[in-house]
Amino acid sequence: TGTRKFFVGGNHKLNGNRQSLHTLIESLNNATIPSSDIVEVVISPPSIYLETAQKAVGPRIQVAAQNCYSEAKGAFTGEIAAEMIKDIGNQWVILGHSERRKIFGESGELIAKKLKHAIEVGLGVIFCIGEQLADRELNQTDAVISSQMKDILGSVPDWSKVVVAYEPVWAIGTGKVASPQQAQDAHHFIREWLASNVSKEVATNTRIIYGGSVSASNCNDLAKEADVDGFLVGGASLIANDFITIISSAK
Ligand code: G3P
Repeated sequence: TGTRKFFVGGNHKLNGNRQSLHTLIESLNNATIPSSDIVEVVISPPSIYLETAQKAVGPRIQVAAQNCYSEAKGAFTGEIAAEMIKDIGNQWVILGHSERRKIFGESGELIAKKLKHAIEVGLGVIFCIGEQLADRELNQTDAVISSQMKDILGSVPDWSKVVVAYEPVWAIGTGKVASPQQAQDAHHFIREWLASNVSKEVATNTRIIYGGSVSASNCNDLAKEADVDGFLVGGASLIANDFITIISSAK
């Protein structure tokens, strides 16, 4: 993968409690994992636990919020600001997750505003994209990917702060993982898209990670693919040993 450092994120979604989070973090802190030159590791608990997680993690683990709003402050009941995420010491935010798009109706336009603001504030963004099953069946995978990438094209102040997470919606939480070839094809397409629409350099340097039913047993085959630069893990990131195995698939 050249200069691209492997990146493994654990998206806890709406799961866990203080106790389980502390147990998980303790296991991660004590685990033997590849060095920071090899793999970047990020966990993303629910927002109410972000500060407690930040205080508990050792130097090898970073913390990401699962969402944030596009404004610094104001009358936006229920939202959290990128400034606040930064304030408690977190370094990342996940944006554009398919659950935000589908269940909470977030548009590409809103996601782009959030992304721009988060990067201006200094956060790294794990930007999620991916087609639904019907799109794939109609051969629209590339079209959907292009359109989701195009949404943010004019809104990225610094591409070095973006990790693109390709998460085919049909693979999320279903146990139906993309094949290594399916993942590689989509990642390659995203990299080519970056080369044509942004620059060769950004295409070479941007991490493109895969999400959707990643497990301790399928991570190594996926990690072998040239354009797979890491993973965004849901369910398996809640199980310390599984997540450690996935972290250790770093190449
Ligand atoms: O963001 C990661 C996620 O959507 C994948 O979830 O449970 O299929 O690994 P899961």
